[in-house]
Amino acid sequence: MRSIAGQRVLLGVTGGIASYKTVSLARLLTQAGARVDVVMSRSAREFVGAVTFEALTGRPVHVDLIADGHALDHIRLAQDTDLVVVAPATADFIARAGQGRADDLLTAILLATRAPVLVAPAMNDQMWTHPQTASNVAHLRSLGYRVLDPAVGPLASADEGVGPGRMREPEEIFDAAVAAMATPSSLAGRTVVVTAGPTREAIDPVRFISNRSSGKMGVAVAKAAAARGAHVILIAGPLEVAVPSGVHVVRVESTAELEAAVRSALRGADALVMAAAPADFRPSSVAHQKIKKATAPPAIPLELSPDILASTRDARESGTVIVGFALETENLVANAQAKLAAKALDLVVANQAGETGSGFGSDTNRVTLIGRDGSVEALPLASKDSVACTIVDRVEQLLSGR
Ligand SMILES: Cc1cc2nc3c(=O)[nH]c(=O)nc-3n(C[C@H](O)[C@H](O)[C@H](O)COP(=O)(O)O)c2cc1C
Repeated sequence: MRSIAGQRVLLGVTGGIASYKTVSLARLLTQAGARVDVVMSRSAREFVGAVTFEALTGRPVHVDLIADGHALDHIRLAQDTDLVVVAPATADFIARAGQGRADDLLTAILLATRAPVLVAPAMNDQMWTHPQTASNVAHLRSLGYRVLDPAVGPLASADEGVGPGRMREPEEIFDAAVAAMATPSSLAGRTVVVTAGPTREAIDPVRFISNRSSGKMGVAVAKAAAARGAHVILIAGPLEVAVPSGVHVVRVESTAELEAAVRSALRGADALVMAAAPADFRPSSVAHQKIKKATAPPAIPLELSPDILASTRDARESGTVIVGFALETENLVANAQAKLAAKALDLVVANQAGETGSGFGSDTNRVTLIGRDGSVEALPLASKDSVACTIVDRVEQLLSGR
């Protein structure tokens, strides 16, 4: 278990069934050496006892701003912490926090703290997908709060079935808490859209054209941006790697779906990093039934798929940083510079095709970063995680100048 010894965590608990899992989270944090102060909403106390948290953390649990005629020093609590985690976060809490209310101890602390805030929502799937909740969550993210998208899975009560709304597991929230305390929040309040992986173009219901992209580079960029506190939207084709926790994932299959997802995500985006490898060609028509071997055509006519960086240009907001990738077989820098100009990019991450230890599927990459300002920076062969950090550094620099 990673050590967060000596770190101060303020753990907010609001009134949902998932609060029983927060007991495990409190235990994980305490065992890892953190000092944990629990603040419960009034409703949370109906679900789990304060005594349980007091026994686990060895510290008093706080509930009210004013109790027994005495005012609690909520400003001190708010300032004497390295991280605020709210788990579970109810729909009601998210709405009140989004409005800047301070009508209970936890919301008052949120206004008074300058520590990073991690929110783990839990609710019925209809509540989670309601546009009102979606808008409240988007607002919290725009304020720099890190919101862990709930998982799809069995919901609390037996009759609720399976849907998005299930709180992330205590171990996942613990990991996100450790990451939030370990890293600077230099991208807090920023929305970074990252695309990753290949796309698939259907030939018939069971066959497709694709490429060898694994999605590792895009996933590494998504992880690096999320670790700096960005709200990350990861638009992913079929990936060979797991998606990181703490990012919002939009799954796509075809280049047309990727194009639509990018267009929609560009609204409100501060940066777009196009690390996906969309299939350049697609069959001109898709057979509705599986093509039989006996009647298979001798050739499949192809057409060009949309060029997403060009076709979504009209959806960009002014000031959005746009990063493209280029895989070249010759004249790496000149070709990448031409791409940068033609598609109005801020940065191109260029790869030489066919180099050992680089490109599709590999865990390492050797890239050259070509900037709109004319800069050309050839990076040494390094892990994709390390290359991703450099790319995100450049995105940060570009954003700070806007
Ligand atoms: C049995 C029961 C379970 C509930 N579970 C949830 C839940 O999982 N998520 C949620 O947003 N609200 C849930 N609610 C509703 C909240 O408890 C209610 O909105 C409350 O006002 C939240 O207050 P708080 O955010 O101050 O804790 C539940 C209510 C009941 C009675």
